Amino acid sequence: MKTSLAAIGSYTPEKILTNADFEKMVDTSDEWIRTRSGIRERHIAADDQATSDLSVIASKRALEAAHLSPKHVQAIIVATATPDMLFPSTACLVQTRIGAPHVISFDISAGCTGFLYGLAIAESLVKSGYDNILVIGADTLSKITDYTDRTTCVLFGDGAGAALIKRTELEDCILSSYFAADGSSWQLLQQPGGGSRIPASHDSVDKRLHYIKMQGNEVFKLAVRAMSEAALKTLKKASISTSQIDLLIPHQANIRIIEASAKRLHIPAEKVLVNLDRYGNTSAASIPIALDQAIREGRAKKGDLILMIAFGAGFTWGGVLLRY
Ligand code: UT7
Repeated sequence: MKTSLAAIGSYTPEKILTNADFEKMVDTSDEWIRTRSGIRERHIAADDQATSDLSVIASKRALEAAHLSPKHVQAIIVATATPDMLFPSTACLVQTRIGAPHVISFDISAGCTGFLYGLAIAESLVKSGYDNILVIGADTLSKITDYTDRTTCVLFGDGAGAALIKRTELEDCILSSYFAADGSSWQLLQQPGGGSRIPASHDSVDKRLHYIKMQGNEVFKLAVRAMSEAALKTLKKASISTSQIDLLIPHQANIRIIEASAKRLHIPAEKVLVNLDRYGNTSAASIPIALDQAIREGRAKKGDLILMIAFGAGFTWGGVLLRY
Protein backbone atom coordinates (compact mmCIF):
# COMPACT_ATOMS: atom_id res chain seq x y z
CA MET A 1 0.00 0.00 0.00
CA LYS A 2 1.22 3.47 -0.83
CA THR A 3 0.74 6.80 0.90
CA SER A 4 -0.62 10.04 -0.54
CA LEU A 5 -1.02 13.52 0.88
CA ALA A 6 -4.66 14.23 0.01
CA ALA A 7 -4.99 17.67 1.57
CA ILE A 8 -3.71 20.01 4.22
CA GLY A 9 -5.33 22.70 6.34
CA SER A 10 -4.02 25.09 8.94
CA TYR A 11 -5.14 27.68 11.43
CA THR A 12 -3.47 30.43 13.42
CA PRO A 13 -5.33 32.46 16.04
CA GLU A 14 -6.44 36.01 15.29
CA LYS A 15 -4.56 37.84 18.02
CA ILE A 16 -1.11 39.05 16.95
CA LEU A 17 1.77 40.15 19.16
CA THR A 18 4.33 42.31 17.35
CA ASN A 19 7.90 43.03 18.37
CA ALA A 20 6.71 46.51 19.40
CA ASP A 21 4.32 44.84 21.88
CA PHE A 22 7.28 42.99 23.43
CA GLU A 23 9.24 46.24 23.76
CA LYS A 24 6.53 47.27 26.24
CA MET A 25 6.66 43.95 28.13
CA VAL A 26 10.36 43.11 28.57
CA ASP A 27 13.78 44.70 28.06
CA THR A 28 14.10 43.98 24.33
CA SER A 29 13.95 45.73 20.96
CA ASP A 30 12.43 45.10 17.57
CA GLU A 31 15.97 45.29 16.17
CA TRP A 32 17.30 42.55 18.52
CA ILE A 33 14.39 40.21 17.86
CA ARG A 34 14.53 40.67 14.07
CA THR A 35 18.29 40.29 13.73
CA ARG A 36 18.75 37.45 16.27
CA SER A 37 15.65 35.42 15.35
CA GLY A 38 14.05 36.81 12.17
CA ILE A 39 10.64 37.13 13.89
CA ARG A 40 8.41 40.21 13.50
CA GLU A 41 5.10 38.98 14.84
CA ARG A 42 3.36 35.84 16.09
CA HIS A 43 -0.24 34.66 16.51
CA ILE A 44 -1.38 34.04 20.06
CA ALA A 45 -4.32 31.89 21.18
CA ALA A 46 -7.16 33.56 23.06
CA ASP A 47 -7.55 32.79 26.77
CA ASP A 48 -10.29 30.27 25.99
CA GLN A 49 -8.48 28.62 23.05
CA ALA A 50 -6.53 25.43 23.68
CA THR A 51 -4.54 23.18 21.36
CA SER A 52 -7.57 21.02 20.48
CA ASP A 53 -9.52 24.12 19.40
CA LEU A 54 -6.82 25.04 16.90
CA SER A 55 -6.50 21.40 15.81
CA VAL A 56 -10.23 21.05 15.14
CA ILE A 57 -10.26 24.08 12.82
CA ALA A 58 -7.15 22.92 10.94
CA SER A 59 -8.60 19.39 10.62
CA LYS A 60 -11.94 20.64 9.30
CA ARG A 61 -10.08 22.72 6.71
CA ALA A 62 -8.07 19.68 5.59
CA LEU A 63 -11.20 17.53 5.35
CA GLU A 64 -13.01 20.25 3.39
CA ALA A 65 -10.09 20.59 0.99
CA ALA A 66 -10.19 16.81 0.45
CA HIS A 67 -14.03 16.80 0.15
CA LEU A 68 -14.06 14.06 2.77
CA SER A 69 -16.61 13.54 5.55
CA PRO A 70 -15.11 13.04 9.03
CA LYS A 71 -17.09 9.77 9.06
CA HIS A 72 -14.37 8.32 6.82
CA VAL A 73 -11.43 9.23 9.06
CA GLN A 74 -9.74 6.06 10.35
CA ALA A 75 -6.99 7.45 12.62
CA ILE A 76 -6.08 10.71 14.35
CA ILE A 77 -2.57 11.59 15.47
CA VAL A 78 -1.85 14.87 17.26
CA ALA A 79 1.78 15.90 17.65
CA THR A 80 1.98 18.44 20.45
CA ALA A 81 3.99 19.55 23.46
CA THR A 82 1.03 21.53 24.76
CA PRO A 83 -1.93 19.14 25.00
CA ASP A 84 -5.15 20.60 26.46
CA MET A 85 -4.35 18.57 29.58
CA LEU A 86 -2.01 15.72 30.52
CA PHE A 87 -4.80 13.28 29.76
CA PRO A 88 -6.99 12.48 27.93
CA SER A 89 -5.06 13.00 24.73
CA THR A 90 -5.79 15.99 22.54
CA ALA A 91 -6.43 13.53 19.70
CA CYS A 92 -9.43 12.10 21.58
CA LEU A 93 -10.85 15.60 22.01
CA VAL A 94 -10.39 16.22 18.28
CA GLN A 95 -12.00 12.85 17.44
CA THR A 96 -15.25 13.64 19.19
CA ARG A 97 -15.40 17.29 18.12
CA ILE A 98 -14.92 16.70 14.39
CA GLY A 99 -17.40 13.83 14.49
CA ALA A 100 -15.03 11.06 13.47
CA PRO A 101 -16.07 7.47 14.28
CA HIS A 102 -14.51 5.65 17.26
CA VAL A 103 -11.12 5.39 15.58
CA ILE A 104 -7.59 5.03 16.94
CA SER A 105 -6.60 8.45 18.32
CA PHE A 106 -3.44 9.36 20.21
CA ASP A 107 -0.90 12.13 20.83
CA ILE A 108 2.81 12.00 20.23
CA SER A 109 5.41 14.01 22.08
CA ALA A 110 8.39 14.76 19.87
CA GLY A 111 8.63 18.53 20.25
CA CYS A 112 8.99 20.51 17.05
CA THR A 113 9.74 17.30 15.10
CA GLY A 114 6.35 15.87 16.06
CA PHE A 115 4.54 16.48 12.79
CA LEU A 116 7.23 14.63 10.84
CA TYR A 117 7.20 11.76 13.36
CA GLY A 118 3.42 11.72 12.85
CA LEU A 119 3.76 11.41 9.09
CA ALA A 120 6.02 8.38 9.53
CA ILE A 121 3.51 6.75 11.87
CA ALA A 122 0.71 7.48 9.41
CA GLU A 123 2.75 5.85 6.65
CA SER A 124 3.07 2.70 8.81
CA LEU A 125 -0.67 2.76 9.52
CA VAL A 126 -1.36 2.96 5.77
CA LYS A 127 0.90 -0.04 5.24
CA SER A 128 -1.12 -1.96 7.84
CA GLY A 129 -4.41 -1.20 6.10
CA TYR A 130 -5.63 2.14 7.47
CA ASP A 131 -6.95 4.93 5.25
CA ASN A 132 -7.78 8.63 5.78
CA ILE A 133 -5.44 9.46 8.63
CA LEU A 134 -5.34 12.94 10.13
CA VAL A 135 -1.84 13.95 11.16
CA ILE A 136 -2.03 17.16 13.16
CA GLY A 137 0.86 19.30 14.37
CA ALA A 138 -0.49 21.77 16.90
CA ASP A 139 0.87 23.83 19.75
CA THR A 140 -0.12 26.72 21.96
CA LEU A 141 3.31 27.48 23.38
CA SER A 142 2.00 30.86 24.58
CA LYS A 143 0.25 28.94 27.39
CA ILE A 144 3.59 27.78 28.81
CA THR A 145 5.66 30.84 27.92
CA ASP A 146 7.06 33.05 30.67
CA TYR A 147 6.29 36.58 29.46
CA THR A 148 8.83 37.97 31.94
CA ASP A 149 11.71 35.97 30.38
CA ARG A 150 13.00 37.93 27.40
CA THR A 151 15.26 35.08 26.27
CA THR A 152 12.28 32.89 25.37
CA CYS A 153 9.04 34.87 25.26
CA VAL A 154 9.76 36.70 22.00
CA LEU A 155 10.25 33.46 20.08
CA PHE A 156 7.00 31.52 20.25
CA GLY A 157 3.64 31.62 18.52
CA ASP A 158 0.55 29.40 18.36
CA GLY A 159 -0.99 27.45 15.49
CA ALA A 160 -2.09 24.14 14.03
CA GLY A 161 -1.72 22.29 10.76
CA ALA A 162 -3.46 19.08 9.72
CA ALA A 163 -2.55 16.74 6.87
CA LEU A 164 -4.94 14.13 5.53
CA ILE A 165 -2.99 11.03 4.56
CA LYS A 166 -4.68 8.55 2.25
CA ARG A 167 -4.00 5.11 0.85
CA THR A 168 -3.30 4.99 -2.87
CA GLU A 169 -2.50 2.48 -5.58
CA LEU A 170 -0.56 5.16 -7.43
CA GLU A 171 2.77 6.70 -6.42
CA ASP A 172 4.04 7.00 -2.86
CA CYS A 173 4.22 10.63 -1.73
CA ILE A 174 6.77 9.85 1.00
CA LEU A 175 9.96 8.94 -0.84
CA SER A 176 12.11 8.62 2.26
CA SER A 177 12.40 9.67 5.87
CA TYR A 178 14.94 9.70 8.63
CA PHE A 179 14.41 10.11 12.37
CA ALA A 180 16.62 10.37 15.42
CA ALA A 181 16.55 11.29 19.10
CA ASP A 182 19.15 11.95 21.79
CA GLY A 183 17.88 12.52 25.31
CA SER A 184 21.29 13.25 26.81
CA SER A 185 20.86 17.04 26.54
CA TRP A 186 17.19 17.14 27.50
CA GLN A 187 17.77 19.87 30.08
CA LEU A 188 18.54 22.45 27.39
CA LEU A 189 14.87 22.73 26.42
CA GLN A 190 12.15 21.70 28.84
CA GLN A 191 9.00 22.50 30.79
CA PRO A 192 10.14 21.16 34.17
CA GLY A 193 6.95 21.43 36.24
CA GLY A 194 3.52 19.85 36.01
CA GLY A 195 4.54 16.28 35.20
CA SER A 196 5.34 13.34 37.50
CA ARG A 197 8.89 14.54 38.26
CA ILE A 198 7.79 17.91 39.66
CA PRO A 199 4.01 17.75 40.11
CA ALA A 200 2.16 21.05 40.05
CA SER A 201 2.22 22.73 43.45
CA HIS A 202 2.27 26.24 44.87
CA ASP A 203 6.04 25.87 45.07
CA SER A 204 6.42 24.78 41.42
CA VAL A 205 4.31 27.72 40.30
CA ASP A 206 6.17 30.18 42.56
CA LYS A 207 9.41 28.94 40.98
CA ARG A 208 7.87 29.39 37.53
CA LEU A 209 8.63 25.75 36.68
CA HIS A 210 5.47 25.43 34.56
CA TYR A 211 7.09 27.59 31.88
CA ILE A 212 9.47 26.77 29.01
CA LYS A 213 13.14 26.88 29.97
CA MET A 214 15.65 27.02 27.14
CA GLN A 215 19.36 27.59 26.80
CA GLY A 216 18.95 29.10 23.37
CA ASN A 217 22.53 29.34 22.18
CA GLU A 218 23.28 25.70 23.05
CA VAL A 219 20.08 24.57 21.32
CA PHE A 220 21.01 26.70 18.34
CA LYS A 221 24.28 24.83 17.71
CA LEU A 222 22.66 21.41 18.02
CA ALA A 223 19.81 22.46 15.74
CA VAL A 224 22.00 23.47 12.80
CA ARG A 225 23.97 20.24 12.97
CA ALA A 226 20.91 18.01 13.37
CA MET A 227 18.81 19.66 10.66
CA SER A 228 21.63 19.33 8.14
CA GLU A 229 22.16 15.69 9.13
CA ALA A 230 18.42 15.01 8.82
CA ALA A 231 18.39 16.51 5.34
CA LEU A 232 21.39 14.59 4.06
CA LYS A 233 20.33 11.23 5.52
CA THR A 234 16.77 11.60 4.22
CA LEU A 235 18.00 12.48 0.72
CA LYS A 236 20.57 9.69 0.70
CA LYS A 237 17.89 7.08 1.41
CA ALA A 238 16.06 8.18 -1.75
CA SER A 239 19.25 8.71 -3.80
CA ILE A 240 18.24 12.32 -4.37
CA SER A 241 20.77 15.16 -4.33
CA THR A 242 20.19 18.55 -2.70
CA SER A 243 20.20 20.20 -6.15
CA GLN A 244 17.10 18.17 -7.15
CA ILE A 245 15.00 19.60 -4.32
CA ASP A 246 12.30 22.05 -5.42
CA LEU A 247 11.46 23.31 -1.94
CA LEU A 248 13.00 23.03 1.51
CA ILE A 249 10.56 23.45 4.40
CA PRO A 250 12.57 23.66 7.61
CA HIS A 251 11.12 23.94 11.09
CA GLN A 252 10.72 27.66 11.71
CA ALA A 253 12.66 28.38 14.90
CA ASN A 254 15.23 30.97 13.90
CA ILE A 255 16.17 32.53 10.55
CA ARG A 256 19.86 32.07 11.37
CA ILE A 257 19.35 28.31 11.96
CA ILE A 258 17.48 28.06 8.65
CA GLU A 259 20.10 30.04 6.72
CA ALA A 260 23.02 28.14 8.26
CA SER A 261 21.37 24.78 7.48
CA ALA A 262 20.54 25.79 3.89
CA LYS A 263 24.09 27.04 3.40
CA ARG A 264 25.57 23.75 4.63
CA LEU A 265 23.26 21.93 2.20
CA HIS A 266 24.00 24.33 -0.70
CA ILE A 267 20.28 24.98 -1.15
CA PRO A 268 19.69 28.54 -2.45
CA ALA A 269 17.46 30.91 -0.47
CA GLU A 270 14.76 31.03 -3.17
CA LYS A 271 14.12 27.30 -2.59
CA VAL A 272 13.68 27.71 1.16
CA LEU A 273 10.28 28.49 2.66
CA VAL A 274 10.52 31.02 5.48
CA ASN A 275 7.47 32.35 7.29
CA LEU A 276 8.69 32.68 10.86
CA ASP A 277 8.70 36.46 10.46
CA ARG A 278 4.87 36.26 10.68
CA TYR A 279 4.36 33.25 12.95
CA GLY A 280 7.41 32.85 15.19
CA ASN A 281 8.23 29.33 16.36
CA THR A 282 4.94 27.40 16.43
CA SER A 283 6.65 24.12 17.41
CA ALA A 284 4.94 21.04 15.91
CA ALA A 285 2.67 23.29 13.84
CA SER A 286 5.42 25.10 11.98
CA ILE A 287 5.96 22.60 9.15
CA PRO A 288 2.29 21.86 8.34
CA ILE A 289 1.47 25.59 8.42
CA ALA A 290 4.36 26.25 6.03
CA LEU A 291 3.39 23.32 3.78
CA ASP A 292 -0.19 24.59 3.61
CA GLN A 293 1.07 28.04 2.69
CA ALA A 294 3.41 26.63 0.03
CA ILE A 295 0.55 24.72 -1.60
CA ARG A 296 -1.95 27.62 -1.43
CA GLU A 297 0.55 30.11 -2.84
CA GLY A 298 1.63 27.77 -5.64
CA ARG A 299 5.19 27.45 -4.33
CA ALA A 300 4.63 23.70 -4.08
CA LYS A 301 3.37 22.30 -7.36
CA LYS A 302 2.21 18.79 -8.25
CA GLY A 303 5.26 16.60 -8.76
CA ASP A 304 7.63 18.84 -6.79
CA LEU A 305 10.21 17.35 -4.47
CA ILE A 306 9.73 18.87 -1.01
CA LEU A 307 12.19 18.22 1.78
CA MET A 308 10.92 18.89 5.31
CA ILE A 309 13.39 18.92 8.22
CA ALA A 310 12.91 19.58 11.91
CA PHE A 311 14.61 19.67 15.28
CA GLY A 312 12.99 19.96 18.68
CA ALA A 313 12.84 19.21 22.39
CA GLY A 314 14.06 15.77 23.39
CA PHE A 315 16.17 16.29 21.42
CA THR A 316 14.47 14.88 18.37
CA TRP A 317 15.18 15.52 14.74
CA GLY A 318 14.28 14.16 11.35
CA GLY A 319 13.40 14.68 7.74
CA VAL A 320 10.70 13.63 5.28
CA LEU A 321 11.09 13.81 1.51
CA LEU A 322 7.77 14.32 -0.20
CA ARG A 323 6.79 14.07 -3.85
CA TYR A 324 3.81 16.40 -3.89
O1 UT7 B 1 12.17 24.93 18.25
C1 UT7 B 1 13.36 24.18 18.36
C2 UT7 B 1 14.24 24.62 19.41
N1 UT7 B 1 14.48 26.02 19.54
C3 UT7 B 1 15.43 26.64 18.82
O2 UT7 B 1 15.91 26.11 17.85
C4 UT7 B 1 15.90 27.99 19.30
C5 UT7 B 1 17.40 28.06 19.20
N2 UT7 B 1 18.03 29.27 19.71
C6 UT7 B 1 17.85 30.51 19.19
O3 UT7 B 1 17.04 30.71 18.32
C7 UT7 B 1 18.74 31.61 19.67
O4 UT7 B 1 19.76 31.07 20.50
C8 UT7 B 1 18.01 32.75 20.43
C9 UT7 B 1 17.22 33.60 19.46
C10 UT7 B 1 17.13 32.16 21.51
C11 UT7 B 1 19.04 33.68 21.12
O5 UT7 B 1 19.99 34.17 20.19
P1 UT7 B 1 21.55 34.10 20.53
O6 UT7 B 1 22.25 34.79 19.46
O7 UT7 B 1 21.90 32.66 20.77
O8 UT7 B 1 21.66 34.96 21.86
P2 UT7 B 1 22.19 34.53 23.29
O9 UT7 B 1 21.24 33.62 23.97
O10 UT7 B 1 23.62 34.07 23.16
O11 UT7 B 1 22.16 35.94 24.02
C12 UT7 B 1 22.96 37.04 23.58
C13 UT7 B 1 22.60 38.25 24.42
C14 UT7 B 1 22.57 37.99 25.91
O12 UT7 B 1 23.08 39.11 26.58
P3 UT7 B 1 24.59 39.13 27.15
O13 UT7 B 1 24.64 37.98 28.13
O14 UT7 B 1 25.45 38.90 25.95
O15 UT7 B 1 24.69 40.46 27.76
C15 UT7 B 1 21.11 37.85 26.21
O16 UT7 B 1 20.78 38.20 27.54
O17 UT7 B 1 21.28 38.72 24.07
C16 UT7 B 1 20.53 38.87 25.26
N3 UT7 B 1 19.12 38.63 24.96
C17 UT7 B 1 18.27 39.58 24.56
N4 UT7 B 1 18.44 40.89 24.35
C18 UT7 B 1 17.37 41.58 23.95
C19 UT7 B 1 18.46 37.44 25.00
N5 UT7 B 1 17.18 37.63 24.63
C20 UT7 B 1 17.05 38.94 24.36
C21 UT7 B 1 15.97 39.73 23.95
N6 UT7 B 1 16.18 41.04 23.74
N7 UT7 B 1 14.73 39.21 23.72
